[in-house]
This record gives sequence, structure tokens and C-alpha cells, in this order.
Amino acid sequence: MNIIKKMDYWFQIKSSERVLNILFYSDSIVRFVYDEDLGSTPAVLERPLNGLGKILGDSIATNELVIKIDSNSLQVEVYNSSGELINKDISVDIPKIEIRKEILWERGFYGSGERYWYLNQKGRRMSNWNSDLIGLYDLHNVTIKEMHTSIPFYIGLDKEKCYGIYFDNSFRTCFDYGKTYNNAVSFKSSGGKIDYYLIYDRDIKGIIEKYSFLTGRMNLPSIPFLGYQQSRYSYKNSKEVMNIAKRMRNEKIPCDVLYLDIHYMENYKVFTIDSKEFRDFKKMLKELKSMGFKVVLIIDPGIKVEKGYKVFEEGKKGDYYVKDSYGLDYVGEVWPGEAVFPDFLRTEVRKWWGDLHASLIKDGVDGIWNDMNEPSNFITKSKTLPEDCLHIDDLGDEKTHSEIHNLYGLLEAKATYKGLKKYLNNKRPFLLTRAAFAGIQRYSALWTGDNTSVWEHLEMSIPMFLNIGLSGIPFVGSDVGGFLEDSDEELLCRWTQLGVFTPFFRNHSNLDTIYQEPWQFGEDTLDNVRKFINIRYSLLTYLYNLMKVSSEKGHPIMRPLLYHYQDDEKTLNIYDEFLFGENMLVAPIYRPGIDERLVYLPEGNWYDFWTDEKKKGKRFLAQYSPIDKIPVCIKEGSIIPRDKIMNYFGELENEITLHFYTGKSCEYELYIDDGITFDYEKDIFSLVKIHTVESSNTLIIGSKTAYKNYEIPKIKINLHGLDNIKEVIIDGEKIDVNNLDKILFNLNERELDIQVVKC
Ligand code: GLC
Repeated sequence: MNIIKKMDYWFQIKSSERVLNILFYSDSIVRFVYDEDLGSTPAVLERPLNGLGKILGDSIATNELVIKIDSNSLQVEVYNSSGELINKDISVDIPKIEIRKEILWERGFYGSGERYWYLNQKGRRMSNWNSDLIGLYDLHNVTIKEMHTSIPFYIGLDKEKCYGIYFDNSFRTCFDYGKTYNNAVSFKSSGGKIDYYLIYDRDIKGIIEKYSFLTGRMNLPSIPFLGYQQSRYSYKNSKEVMNIAKRMRNEKIPCDVLYLDIHYMENYKVFTIDSKEFRDFKKMLKELKSMGFKVVLIIDPGIKVEKGYKVFEEGKKGDYYVKDSYGLDYVGEVWPGEAVFPDFLRTEVRKWWGDLHASLIKDGVDGIWNDMNEPSNFITKSKTLPEDCLHIDDLGDEKTHSEIHNLYGLLEAKATYKGLKKYLNNKRPFLLTRAAFAGIQRYSALWTGDNTSVWEHLEMSIPMFLNIGLSGIPFVGSDVGGFLEDSDEELLCRWTQLGVFTPFFRNHSNLDTIYQEPWQFGEDTLDNVRKFINIRYSLLTYLYNLMKVSSEKGHPIMRPLLYHYQDDEKTLNIYDEFLFGENMLVAPIYRPGIDERLVYLPEGNWYDFWTDEKKKGKRFLAQYSPIDKIPVCIKEGSIIPRDKIMNYFGELENEITLHFYTGKSCEYELYIDDGITFDYEKDIFSLVKIHTVESSNTLIIGSKTAYKNYEIPKIKINLHGLDNIKEVIIDGEKIDVNNLDKILFNLNERELDIQVVKC
């Protein structure tokens, strides 16, 4: 008798009282649900496909996988199409909602969201329960198991194969990567059901593409929010904000975004403005706009309980708040004192919340920062809402907070994003969040909360970013300079250097610490910090192009070396350097007084970013990097666009210099649009394909404007690695060799046709 039954659009295996449903999302994405209920969390976007999978005895096969099922235990073994065993259950405990799997060949485990640990999570145990953490003791501490975010996703990897497991369960989940038993990985939950996806691919890039296909990809960000951003808890009145803004411009520090932390509100009441300290709020925003600044406001979910306060009253009238176990509005405490919490589980509540942003946007606010959204609560030991609080879904069904807790930040972000999109008049929303669940990338950038101005936090932010990136969230950053405690000049310089290569680049500091804007530590530090922010601005088009690909494929921006060199086993544990895109290797200095460090260069030839010295890879090299340098190397055979430096995005007409790191033929796609609106969705963009063909005596540079519907900036050419050029021929005409980097090419009118003859 066939134990596997084909159902409507899935497969089912029953054994005594137990059931396993198997669903396919592609030939290499399979879902296992040990329950009759096939509902998903809001993290998952895709629907299962019908027609994939063929029953072969006790197995189901697709073009890429064979899944063998034990009809008694309901344990599975998964093989790839070459017959290699990819994944194997040791036990499936349905009542305990726990699966244990054998560690077969995996040399590393990655992903799992925000973690204070090195890159490889093998030998670690951790859980997912969004928590408000602060400083050295709670946060950024290797013993801490629960962080602000819950991304129940991991990647098991070796040189030639890997897989991802996404456990679609929003309750408190716990993952053990060989800590309790060194031959087993396990994951379990405190509620819900066993419902997980296994994603197979030979390389990690494929895993991320498929995981982000399931849970969604980042929307293309607005370019100003890739610029430098300045924040402080808090700039307390409009005069202080304007002074910061003016100083930025006077000191010629490129800066696009200023943040207003909780003091802009009246008694910390969300969607209000303190009319004393920010008397002419709209005028201030207008002035800032005219100086080229965008303004982001913090909005926390806790709504002050206060008779007559419009937002509180509206929510009360609509019955929009999370309930306690008796069905009354739960009252906790956050910055404004007693507070209630919107129940973002319901569409109606999310719409109300989104609409609350209309007047802020009308006043000229450009983006929103969602903080304290674990949600944080000052009056419970758990620092959040009691687990027996109640949420009510769209069907009117009650769900306990233990199920919705980890989704709270995601649902708030969804509400905020939709509201911003509705009122921003075709501009792309910017949203920043602290708490998150899988899928958050669809709505928001993420920062890693309240770190401390200590070197260890600078160091450990690197693998934290890398694993967040491997969890489908590319737009990430930390408080540059450190949030708690006083920063200092050296720390600020080194942290800014890392910030240049971090997608979200914001300097932020706490109340009662010394201010840490770029000019706070004297002239040398100012010059140094400015120099690095300038580098960031020269890389905006490069970064934006990475973001574009990421918005289509899910790739992280900061990538561990193993992302592109998976078959080099050295890379499996390197946590303190990374690739910014595929070809730019960055190795931050993260210890005081250090001006030299070891850098591992993977195979191939690499150029020193500062000196153009060529270095052979597949080895560790000492890199000298005094305080005004960070080790950066560029791979031979790459093209890096660099922009004209300006005070803010769009201040001046851009001019792009294409840097060719010669040595190998290569290709690059340059994507250009207005960087701000959704017009690109109406095909208002341009795409230029640039290529080189290189031999021992010549380098040919060509381009093709594959699509043109937006003005392409003028282009200059800069060649690296060609010390002796015999002649340069453009469009068949010889030009003076020394003039090449001065010529402006207009790609709107022509294509590149350059021939460089080597000596
Ligand atoms: C939280 C945030 C921090 C913010 C502060 C005040 O601690 O993590 O960034 O400055 O609240 O709003």
C-alpha cells in the first residue's frame, strides 16, 4: 500500500495519530508540516506549487531532491539528485514541537539573524524572543541568547553543498547547532507546530536567493538614506537641530539625514510635536530641506494613556489595543509613562497606524524610525508584554502574545511602511526598525540597538552584520561610534571607517554621553572622519547598484568571504573581514592602537585600494593601516563606479568615474534612475553594460546602453594596474595617453569604444 497520499496540492503521510504534510515551492524548496493546519506566519509570501514531486514508493522526488519518509516515525531523509544525503532526521517529537537532525557534513552554520558571536554558529545554542537589550551586560555579550530580532533561519554549509532551514514558527524558538549533542542540530518551539522549509542549493548564494524568494526582498532604497546619517538621543530643540545641520554644511561633511529622537514629542506622545522646543516645526523642516537634509522621526508603539490625547482616544474608540488575559486593554509603561499597545495583528489597526503618519509627512518628515517594538515594557520582569496578553486577528480569533510577540515589530513595520507609501507621493519610504521577524527586509532597514562605545562592540558588529545579511536582511547597520558610554577619537575614526562599508550608516549616541558628531574630537579626527564619509559618498552609485541587485535577488551587501569562496575552507570561519559586493574586500581595524592587521585574500589577484599595489591571494597578508586608512582590496578584473563627492545626494550634477582594475576581462552593469521615486517601476531608468576584453597587449573597453529612459551622468575613465601605456585610441582616434582620465564621455549619446595598447 502506498503510504504517501497525493492531496489537492500537497502530499500527506499519516501514521497512527500523526500527520506529515509535504509541500513544494520549487524543485529545491520543500516544506514539512507535522499538523493538519497548513497556515503560515506573515513572513512567508509564496504559495506552494501544484504538480511538483512524484511518488516513488516511500519517497517523493523532484528534479533536484529525493525525500525519503519513514512511515512510522515520520522522519525524513533528503537527498540531492546526485544521491548525496543532504539532511537527515534523528527524531521528530510532535508534542514537544522539536526536530533533531544529524550533523552529516556541515562545517558551519550561519544566519540566525542578529547574534553576538563569530561568523560560524556551530557549537552554539540560542533562542528567538525579541528582547529590549541595553549595553554591555544584556546586549552584545556572548552569553545572551535572545536579541531584538527573531529570524528562525539557518544555513548548513560545506565546500560543495549547503541547505537552508526556515522554521516558520513565531513562538519562542530555540536552535542548537551541535551544542548539546555534537552530532545533532535541533530546533524546537514553545508553541504552534512543526512547520519548516528545507531549501537546497550547491552554493550559499542560491540559498539566499531562494530564502528571499520565500520571505521577500528589500524594496529598492532611496539613495539619500544610503548617505551619512546623524542622530543623538536627543537633539532637544530646533535650535540644536539647526546648529547640527549648519555645522555639517560648514565643515563640509556630507550628510543626508538627521534624526529626531523622543524629545521632539510632547511628553513622549507619539504623533505629537513639542510645541515649545520645536515651536515652528514645519519651518524647521522646510529650512532643513532647503539645505539638502532629510528628517527621520522616532515613533515607538507605546501610546500614552491620557484622556483627551487624540491618538489614545482614537485607538480606544476603535478598540485597537492589545488586551490582557481578562480582555481589558493591557496597560504597560514606556517613555511616556502608562501606555497601551496597538494590536498590529489586525489590518484595521495597521491601517489606522499607517494613516497616523499622514500629517507628519505633510509637515515634511521623510522617514520613520520604529524603536522599542519588541515591544519594550518597563514594568514586567520580562521587559515586554505578559505572554498571556491577547491579540485579535482579522477573523476575530484570539492569539496569545506568546505567538504574536516575535511578529510585533514586523507587523508594526508593515503598517508604517504602507502608511508612508500611501502619503509619500511616489517617493520610496525609509523605515528603520530595532525588532524584527523573518521578512522584515520587505519593509525596513535594521539597526542593532543600543551598543556601547567599546572596541569589542565594533569588532563583533562585523559578524553580526554578516549573519543578518545571510538571514535575508541586507540593509543593516549599528550605531557608529557606539551608543552608551563616551566614545573617543580613535574609536570614532575606526567605527566610521567600518560604517562607510555598512549599508546603513548612522552615528548615534545616548543621553548623558559626550556628543560624538564628527567635529567633537578635534581637527584631526574631523579631517579623518570627513575623509571617510567622502569615500562613502564616492561609493553611493556602487552601493546603490548592489542594492538594486539585492532588491531583485536578496543578496547581502556585506558578505562573508565564503559567499564567493565557499570552496576555500579558510573562509568558513573568517568573521572580521568581508566583501562589500563581490569584489571589494574590507578588513576593519577594531583594536585600539593597532595600525597593522592580517588580512586573508582569497584566490586571485587583488589591488590595494590606497596604493594600487597588486597582491596575490589565497594567503594571509599583513596590511599596514594607520588611523587614516582601513585595509581595502579590490579584485583584479572589476569595475567600480565612483561618484563626484557632494554635501548630499543630488546637490550637484553627478559625474561617475569608472575605475577599471585591470588584469582580466570583465563586465559590469550600471543601473541609473532618479534614486528617490517609484518611477523606475514605470521603466524610467537606464542600464549600461560595460565590458573589457583584455589580452597581454591590449585592453578594450566597450559599453552598450541596454536600456535608456533616464539621463546617464557623464562618465570618466580611470585605469588601475597599467603603468605603461603605449597608446590610447578612442573611436579609432589616437589621444594623448595622459588625457584619458580627463575626458568626459556622454553615454546618453554614444557608447564606449576605447582601445588601450600596453607597452
Ligand atoms: C532606545 C533606542 C535608542 C534611542 C532610545 C531613546 O534605547 O535603542 O536608539 O535613542 O531608545 O529613544
